Amino acid sequence: MHVNYSIDRLATAARLALDLAWAKTGATAPNPPVGCVLLDAAGDIVAAAAHERAGAAHAEAAAIAICRARGQLDRIHTAVVTLEPCSHTGRTPPCVDALLTTGAKIILLGAPDPHPRAPGRGLEILKAAGRHVLMFSDLEHGEARDFARSATRLIEPFACAVTRARPFVTVKTALTAEGSMIPPLGQKTFTSDISLNHAHTLRRRADAILTGSGCILADDPSFTVRRVPNHPEKQQILAILDRRHRVPDAYFERARKRGLQPLRYDSLHAAMEGLGARGVLEVLVEAGPTLRRAVLAEGLWDEEVVFQQANTAGAPDKMHILRCDGAIPFSYEAPTSLERVQ
Ligand SMILES: NC(=O)c1ccc[n+]([C@@H]2O[C@H](COP(=O)([O-])OP(=O)(O)OC[C@H]3O[C@@H](n4cnc5c(N)ncnc54)[C@H](OP(=O)(O)O)[C@@H]3O)[C@@H](O)[C@H]2O)c1
Repeated sequence: MHVNYSIDRLATAARLALDLAWAKTGATAPNPPVGCVLLDAAGDIVAAAAHERAGAAHAEAAAIAICRARGQLDRIHTAVVTLEPCSHTGRTPPCVDALLTTGAKIILLGAPDPHPRAPGRGLEILKAAGRHVLMFSDLEHGEARDFARSATRLIEPFACAVTRARPFVTVKTALTAEGSMIPPLGQKTFTSDISLNHAHTLRRRADAILTGSGCILADDPSFTVRRVPNHPEKQQILAILDRRHRVPDAYFERARKRGLQPLRYDSLHAAMEGLGARGVLEVLVEAGPTLRRAVLAEGLWDEEVVFQQANTAGAPDKMHILRCDGAIPFSYEAPTSLERVQ
């Protein structure tokens, strides 16, 4: 590949495309979050955009539209996209067509499209049109592997939904220093502000929260995103497992007033199926020990994020990320001020 600019320019673009896309996790379902950065022949950024929400322009189309509006379509030399461009017509036209209307000679992609409807077709069409297509992992740059991992992890909920017909399931668990999930008497939370902020980031990232009647009856939790800015106009689903209908109607009413969409389910499988059918990509389990145990025992989870209170006053909480498939966890948002334990 011959370019007139340093590979660092491509790395900067990949980093920005990933940042833009990660900022939209939890806003785009049933579509995946995607970021796109367009560079000129000198490696300068001409436009950058993300897919904002289902029905809105895809990231590539949005970035190209910015160039068009500024009269700078001719400047496009390189397109950096976190996901292989789609080759099918959905609510919006195919992104490969949009890219082919530009003079982009180099197309750098983060991850292949995991959708089984046309694997690799976007890539093949671009190559057949004479564009130089390469993946983040092909970049001769020290961060190439991290970019590729980030791009793959970014779309893992989408990949799970389209290949396994169920949402990606993240379990969030808070433990006291002694290892109990039950808060001290009179408290609802016990972990540090940093842990709680991160828990709200996980909540914003999810399309649905799954909880049990026990958690609701004990804590009357609000389940809203408060500690970090939420996506505007997002209506998050609150799935409540409550076979005995112990959760009062008044709780459902209050949840609706808080902007949530509360739904009662009778089994875990019904919940996963129902949420999948509603286009949910990621479910965050925020439940007490009974439901957490059931989710883990049934293998209906993908990642667990455990926050454990420090046993020395003033020390940071510990954060572990566990994977059901045993893979090495990747976290885009985890704060560095928590002690990471692998
Ligand atoms: N540390 C943390 O991360 C954390 C998070 C949340 C809550 N909590 C604490 O957890 C405590 C409540 O614990 P909990 O265990 O009662 O709450 P839970 O796990 O949230 O709720 C348990 C209830 O969920 C329902 N359920 C429906 N389907 C189920 C299934 N397949 N398997 C298991 N349960 C199912 C059951 O009620 P039905 O039989 O009526 O369906 C069950 O009694 C509170 O003290 C709360 O503060 C801690």
